[in-house]
Amino acid sequence: PAPAPPAGPSLGFTAIDKSLLDDVVLPAGYTYSVVHATGDRLVSSIPAYSNTGAETDEWTMRVGDHHDGMDLYYINASGRYSATETNRAVLVMNHESSADAHFFHPNGQTSGGVAGKKFSQFDSWDLGVRPELEVLKEINHHGVSVAEVGKNSSGRWEYKLDSLYNRRVTGQSPMRIAGPAAHLADIRSFMVTAYDTSGATSRGTLNNCGHGKTPWGTYLACEENWAAYFFMPTGSTAVDTKTQTSRQRYGVARVPLSGTATSAGSQGWSATASAATDNRFGRWNVSAPGATAAQDFRNEPNTFGYIVEIDPLTNGTPAKRVAMGRFAHEAAVCGLPVVGQPLAFYMGCDSRNEYIYKFVSTAVWSEADIGGGSAAGDKYLNEGRLYVARFNDTGSGEWIELNIANPLISGYATYVFANQADVLINARHAADAVGATKMDRPEWGAVNPANGEIYFTMTNSNNASRPVTGTNAANPRSYTDNDGRGQVGGNPNGHIIRFRETAGASTATTFAWDIFLFGAEEDAGASINLSGLNAKNDFSSPDGLWFSKVTGICWIQTDDGAYTDQSNCMLLAAIPGSVGDGGAITVNNTVAGVSGTQNTFIGAALGEARLRRFLVSPRGAEVTGITESADGRAIFVNIQHPGENTPAIGTNPSFTFQSQWPGNVGYGPAGRPRSATIVITRTDGGVIGV
Ligand code: FEO
Ligand code: CA
Ligand code: CA
Ligand code: CA
Repeated sequence: PAPAPPAGPSLGFTAIDKSLLDDVVLPAGYTYSVVHATGDRLVSSIPAYSNTGAETDEWTMRVGDHHDGMDLYYINASGRYSATETNRAVLVMNHESSADAHFFHPNGQTSGGVAGKKFSQFDSWDLGVRPELEVLKEINHHGVSVAEVGKNSSGRWEYKLDSLYNRRVTGQSPMRIAGPAAHLADIRSFMVTAYDTSGATSRGTLNNCGHGKTPWGTYLACEENWAAYFFMPTGSTAVDTKTQTSRQRYGVARVPLSGTATSAGSQGWSATASAATDNRFGRWNVSAPGATAAQDFRNEPNTFGYIVEIDPLTNGTPAKRVAMGRFAHEAAVCGLPVVGQPLAFYMGCDSRNEYIYKFVSTAVWSEADIGGGSAAGDKYLNEGRLYVARFNDTGSGEWIELNIANPLISGYATYVFANQADVLINARHAADAVGATKMDRPEWGAVNPANGEIYFTMTNSNNASRPVTGTNAANPRSYTDNDGRGQVGGNPNGHIIRFRETAGASTATTFAWDIFLFGAEEDAGASINLSGLNAKNDFSSPDGLWFSKVTGICWIQTDDGAYTDQSNCMLLAAIPGSVGDGGAITVNNTVAGVSGTQNTFIGAALGEARLRRFLVSPRGAEVTGITESADGRAIFVNIQHPGENTPAIGTNPSFTFQSQWPGNVGYGPAGRPRSATIVITRTDGGVIGV
């Protein structure tokens, strides 16, 4: 019998309708204001943001773009981290992507002397020479921002200009390569570049998506689509086969395994006139070395793809935690810490058919380490075991350790591992070798504070990655035009899976799982709308996921490109329950002439009492990071890339914007849309959501 759900919250607001408005829409009784937006200055010594692209390279002193994962850190009287509420705090957040970098320049992005362009992260483009200033602005808006926040005299949350805690970590900040002592020399041998021929340090963090917060009070920035930043010129010579096999698996420089490069996907950062002599630009070109060793950056891609630990209250050098594996890190969530037990961190690799991983520390948790900064990080995040998840058909699963001692790894033919350092750095290959379960794009994880169960969003899949004949019990849905809308194959609306470690132990190597929720359009029909969603709670493509420690509400954020005719992206509140509380449902994936897989999974239809739409974003935006004040009376939410479908200026001479938020609601200069953090409060001052 299924265990009874723990006593949980009730949802105390009226669900809102879907929206296509260019504003944040909230339930009655709730209000929002902007805390900060892309380009806001952190120091008063530089000009306020123009929102016209007029800035020089001051982005190391401005809030970055594409706000993503974030967390709040209270500061104690000694200026160190406080696990409980104080009267000072910093808000720390990731700045994910360059996808809207055309807004940073007066007339869009420029290459080959032609302005008015917009480069997508995954574009192949002409690689005409790019202006240095444009590239530096684009590199420096990436990374992480730290800004002190607090309530002003009218009780409204704002960021504090000129706080000594205000700080930026960017795509070229120095980083420390950290890992298990026994393998550190081997790890460094993979990191040798012209920047540091010892491999002990590297430059920059990129494409930080979801995040994590450690129990000792540091911030984990997660490097997701870093692979897309590297370039090999057409016709350049491939590096050695082993390196190419690694790059192929990670999508670096998108070149064939042998022969010469034929495609040019990248951000164009190595396309400046000075790239041959200035390695701030040259390092993005990862072809075989040119004339001088000073330009040898073949290993530069090995320096990205990690969990990056930052102490938000010091200026210390961030650490790349190699023990936690290298992949397209979406987020890192710590299981409920138990004194005297190892800590577990759960991590998704967000690409189609990728995996869920767990890192278990060797050190056991001691509350004496709270406030211990990066030194505590060295204790917990360097030594440990890295596992990957296999979901069995029966609602059970297992964690398989990625260790060179496993014959499946040491004997893997596709990629021959040199040592355990190689296993960590090429974790995707190791996970392939042990037969982990390929998932429908694992995005954020979150831990239910009521019972320690772990939830993960599977944002979506397509027919190529999840054909009707290629489902499994944990990814059971592949559309067969069930609703007559033409979708055959794939799981375009996504689902949320959850699991419970055996005996609740961080060190467990087995777990129980079920499916919590399936995304769908409310009128899609019962064979797609498996969770019985209605007009007040239907959604697609779950991405951000977070539990309030105050209310226990599970908050779900969407990043949806398939449902935007119906609604902008949204934030929903759910009452979680527990693994196994939902009964069993069978899915038949069968299309005329093609037999699919029949899967029985355990899952619930959540009624409106347990799932309600709380927020809808402005046009073109994705709803990303979320955190709360310690009293639960304020939640912070990130609105990422409003107006992302604004075309390039060259094809859009009047520069018509898909969105003009937040300028259109009175925050900052009107015109170009900007990512921003909002703070949501109740007009009666009450706790959010209940
Ligand atoms: Fe950056 Fe997986 O979203
Ligand atoms: Ca994004
Ligand atoms: Ca995401
Ligand atoms: Ca996403």
